[in-house]
Amino acid sequence: MTDISTEVTGLKVRSPAMLAAGVLGTTGTSLRRIAVSGAGAVVTKSLGVQPSEGHPGPNLVEVDCGFLNAMGLPNPSCAAFLDEMDAAREAGVPIIASVIGRNAEEFSGAARLMGGADALELNVSCPHAERGYGASICSDPDLLADIVRSVKGSVKIPVWVKLPPYVDKITELGIISEKNGADAVVAINTVPAMAIDINTGMPILGNITGGLSGPAIKPISLKCTYDLYKALKIPVISVGGIAGWEDAVEFIMAGAAAVQVGSALHNNIDIFREIETGIKAYLEEKGMTLEAMRGIAHRKT
Ligand code: SIN
Repeated sequence: MTDISTEVTGLKVRSPAMLAAGVLGTTGTSLRRIAVSGAGAVVTKSLGVQPSEGHPGPNLVEVDCGFLNAMGLPNPSCAAFLDEMDAAREAGVPIIASVIGRNAEEFSGAARLMGGADALELNVSCPHAERGYGASICSDPDLLADIVRSVKGSVKIPVWVKLPPYVDKITELGIISEKNGADAVVAINTVPAMAIDINTGMPILGNITGGLSGPAIKPISLKCTYDLYKALKIPVISVGGIAGWEDAVEFIMAGAAAVQVGSALHNNIDIFREIETGIKAYLEEKGMTLEAMRGIAHRKT
């Protein structure tokens, strides 16, 4: 059977389908469960130096085309998560720690605490984070540069930067990340959005606005992947609306080195195996390798 193992920033993965940050990444047991279900790698929930309770509920609402969430980066803190990392490690797949902060010092502190992970994913893109965290960082290119540079200087493991879905700006943010030492970019975080209950006339989410994930954002993420692959030398890891192997193939054709799955897990824990089996069967049918398929949508006809 076709081999779809690959290497992403030096990490060997047996399948390019990974667990996205924030979904089932809150305990070592849940990370291990996802790894056992076939994920090539797993990303933790975003963690900071200080614990945080997150936003008031409701925090998650299903909409026609996906999910809206405004969790508000709740987390027990990096230090409190270290035991969970030990439990997750038993699964034998790379563990990527998603980290948060408001500046270079906070990010580097979190990065050092999570330095036992296989890679870090810097969350500079949550669209509904408390002031100073998340996507607001990307509105200040110097701050983004400072954070990436400082984290790179603080750890020895690969550093991935998760970018917001600013289609007109994402290439620039990718270039800043690359220039300052990022080993990969991850595109995209959720898209700012909201829902209103017409019976109460009130926004549904406790935070009023949140981030949209799921099938609706797939074409946005695909364009971001395509643009980033064209502009950067470092790998692009794609996330946003991937719900089956065909979606994964599309992203790899746009240039993705790997894909991450989040929302689709709500009703399908088998999705990682399905993606793996589907990609293998597709490549066999086409007589192609994974590497040959990567970026094929960029070729000149
Ligand atoms: C959250 O915890 O609020 C979601 C994380 C994110 O959107 O980056």
